[in-house]
Amino acid sequence: MQRSSFSGSVGFVLAAAGSAVGLGNIWRFPYLAAKDGGGLFLVIYIILALTFGFALLTTEIAIGRKTRKGPLSAYRRINPRFKNLGLIGCIIPMMILPYYSVIGGWVIKFATAYLSGCGFEAAQDGYFTNFITHKYESIIFTVAFLLLTSFIIYRGVNKGIEKFSKILMPLLLLLIIGISVFSLTIQHTDSSGEVRSGLDGLKIYVIPDFKDLTLEKFSVTLMDAIGQLFYSLSIAMGIMISYGSYVKDENNLVKSINRIEIFDTAVAFLAGAMVIPVVYVFAGYEGMTASGPGLVFVNIPKIFAETGQIGNLLGAVFFTMVLFAALTSAISILEAIVSSFMDKFGYSRKKSVVAETLIALFFAILVCLGYNALYFELPLPNGTNAQILDLMDYISNNILMPITALLTCILIGYIAGPEKIISEVTRNGEIFSREKLYRVMIKYIAPLLLFLLLLKSIGLL
Ligand code: ALA
Repeated sequence: MQRSSFSGSVGFVLAAAGSAVGLGNIWRFPYLAAKDGGGLFLVIYIILALTFGFALLTTEIAIGRKTRKGPLSAYRRINPRFKNLGLIGCIIPMMILPYYSVIGGWVIKFATAYLSGCGFEAAQDGYFTNFITHKYESIIFTVAFLLLTSFIIYRGVNKGIEKFSKILMPLLLLLIIGISVFSLTIQHTDSSGEVRSGLDGLKIYVIPDFKDLTLEKFSVTLMDAIGQLFYSLSIAMGIMISYGSYVKDENNLVKSINRIEIFDTAVAFLAGAMVIPVVYVFAGYEGMTASGPGLVFVNIPKIFAETGQIGNLLGAVFFTMVLFAALTSAISILEAIVSSFMDKFGYSRKKSVVAETLIALFFAILVCLGYNALYFELPLPNGTNAQILDLMDYISNNILMPITALLTCILIGYIAGPEKIISEVTRNGEIFSREKLYRVMIKYIAPLLLFLLLLKSIGLL
């Protein structure tokens, strides 16, 4: 079967940036940045994105283009002894897609609430909890999100992934810039008479505070930034291998990778500039550290309600933007699985999409039931209490992804050799200015950081 390809580097960059820019950027990045003291997290994150993130992103995209395979078969092509790594690389997106679809369903619920003018209702206490604990409401929205994702992937690489990314990504950028600018202009006086402005919030976000910095705080911030980077750049999820396999030989990978990094980091930064000042103005410093889903689905609606009549419009724009971000990421997660099924089992695209949609649907329903019929609280080694969604996130994000990335570093750094990736990246004579950095990262620094991350995830650090 002739393998599909992106029409050119713009299509590839927008699709890959669409994958990278997702729920992770919008709820996780601002939350972590706020928790870890703003500026310091930001500086560490940007340094890591340009070094550690760059090395892993380059590796995966180059593996994809070199082997022309999805994750399930690509590692075997590089070295047959690493075939099981391909299996983990395919299991990861299969674990992520169900819960990502559930969160995508929550986003549709909130977007429709605001678009239909019910924003004030969405800000009431208990709105979010009542919704996710309802017997079937969240299942309906989850199914809607998953079917939308499947429909795009069903249409293929050009008419599906590329076409939708080319429409949704510029719109997303426009919306996020618009809300960020707005959030810098606001001002609020709280009940104690304290006046806080969006610009004060921005200062907390961007200026590193080294005053109370301890080694422990630094290492927590470092590990948070590495974990976030993984999620944000869609590394170790099989996605970049799958997207890399659709890049034409003549496209310049060095330039494309630079652009993906810049796009993703810029959107993560803008997401922080959009969320942190608003939360700071209306909820103060303490309000900034409210946890992930709580921040987007509980705190932000309350903040929009505080802004008065304009709040409904703001909410509609905000949740539409989050929906675009979630959708372009979900399609990449599904494509990593679909491309694997097509390569490995020789299935058609249609059959692969239907098979994976049914599997994801089954697990997504379990995730929804995790908030009512199947509710439990499981203490995790990282100190949190998990429901099914958190458990799937923990196993994939905290355990399997660092293991996959670590083994990928060993494969490329010591067995296949960095040359394999470098020759792919420079196959048309491109100048790879970060080549030395790449070698050092893939052989020494990235494996060390990944090992530490793994130890921390399982509670040994
Ligand atoms: N990279 C995607 C996100 O940040 C998966 O949500």
